[in-house]
Amino acid sequence: MKVLVIGKGGREHALCWKLKQSRKATAVFCAPGNAGTAVDAQNVPIDASDIRGLVQFARRENIGLTVVGPEEPLVRGIVDVFQREGLTVFGPKQEAAELEGSKVFAKELMRQAGIPTAEYRVFQSSPDAENYVLSRELALVVRSRGRSTIRHTLHCKTAGETLEAIDRIMDPREMLAPGVQVELEERGRRRVFNTREEARDFVLGRPLPLVIKADGLAAGKGVHVCDNARQALDAIDQIMFRRVFGKAGDRVIIEERLDGRETSVLAITDGRTIIPLETCQDHKRAFDHDEGPNTGGMGAFSPTDSISPEVMEQVEREILVPAIHSLKRTRRPFRGVLYAGLMLTNQGPRVLEFNVRFGDPETQTLLVRLKSDLLELLYAAATERLADFEIEWDPRPAVTVVMAAAGYPGAHERGQAIHNIELADRIPGVKVFHAGTTLRGDSSRPRESRVVSDGGRVLNVSAVGDTLPDAQSRAYQAARAISFEGGWYRHDIGGKPPRSESAR
Ligand code: AMP
Ligand code: GLY
Repeated sequence: MKVLVIGKGGREHALCWKLKQSRKATAVFCAPGNAGTAVDAQNVPIDASDIRGLVQFARRENIGLTVVGPEEPLVRGIVDVFQREGLTVFGPKQEAAELEGSKVFAKELMRQAGIPTAEYRVFQSSPDAENYVLSRELALVVRSRGRSTIRHTLHCKTAGETLEAIDRIMDPREMLAPGVQVELEERGRRRVFNTREEARDFVLGRPLPLVIKADGLAAGKGVHVCDNARQALDAIDQIMFRRVFGKAGDRVIIEERLDGRETSVLAITDGRTIIPLETCQDHKRAFDHDEGPNTGGMGAFSPTDSISPEVMEQVEREILVPAIHSLKRTRRPFRGVLYAGLMLTNQGPRVLEFNVRFGDPETQTLLVRLKSDLLELLYAAATERLADFEIEWDPRPAVTVVMAAAGYPGAHERGQAIHNIELADRIPGVKVFHAGTTLRGDSSRPRESRVVSDGGRVLNVSAVGDTLPDAQSRAYQAARAISFEGGWYRHDIGGKPPRSESAR
């Protein structure tokens, strides 16, 4: 069977690499692919967004299974188009991909199916959303001081009421009333402000844990985790007023901010049978000890003890099964991989988001541990024959270290030469996946062309080992062997840094 993988990241390289090992695969293509898939598969210069071009290619080449990597084509309905042409494809149809394409849809499904998630409200206009933020509970006492025309002690219950009280005392039109001050009392502590702006600023900076989310796809940037009303109002302004994500910001969700440890669970399903994958934990923050800004993921390891067998059982019972069944009941059967982003709270696991695709770099970490034939697994899911599939794993742990370009997750350079990948690949247990790379030179002879960086997350160094520290030290030994100017990575993927890294 000929196989086509759509996408160009580390996730897609890992999918190609594993699919190629299948006894059933005669050829593996990747569209558009990267410098790694050029070696482990055959690249096809068609972009993941060019659905028509991809269908034509699949028909012409008689592709037996297409695997869609990124969410964008899924949400745009690539699976429907392929199926109409009689092509077999792994991934959900457009209506089921809504689970990732619309956070409002996902929240409503969770509410109906009783799936545990943060409390939320949906807003279609920025004034409504702002009023809601300002109506959250906030206990302050406001007093006028000095020569105010109004002498008040006002007990305010919300930020909105407090701002109104400040405005009444320090009416902006009454600049004529010099010497008027406002006093704000919070839990017995009093502060005096000379200007309306300072007082407002103080109110807007009071702790208010909220999360503001754009409804639609926003390249992973549509979520604002806020500490106070100022940040929440700013997020609403960006999404709904300045429309930085376009139509994806027609609606916003405002939800309660949850505390706990973040993790995820992935499961393959054909809409009836659900096969959860091994546990896996990614590291989202840029720098060691989670000190940097959020990224697409700086590494991952598997298995993780943050999901005990009991929690896994709870996730299956309370989240995966009701989600898949609820979609089926509403005639949106889900086939593909369901990725549940979770917060493990004191009250149990809560869903932060659903993705309808493989995680990146989780997939790289999981696939180096997968013993089963990936082509058979994905084909069974795509053709509703998962019931009899027995998935098998290598019991050994795996670690993936992401090598990023200088500057990532901010602006970064492209076109930096990368050397010694083959050297790293020769270390036992190691596989280097390409993420943001491309070839310079004769593209028909990939093994002789130069590999250069072409993105923020550039390489994913995966390794299996007898123990987690063993897998870590192999991955880091491989990462150190690679030369890539300005390239950097976290030293603590998988927990405590291995000795070789902590010495650095
Ligand atoms: P999402 O795209 O929904 O996964 O959100 C991106 C990130 O925002 C998540 O990985 C969490 O770190 C954070 N997040 C989302 N929703 C919440 C929430 N309700 N409480 C706390 N953090 C959240
Ligand atoms: N690693 C997070 C994601 O793929 O969404």
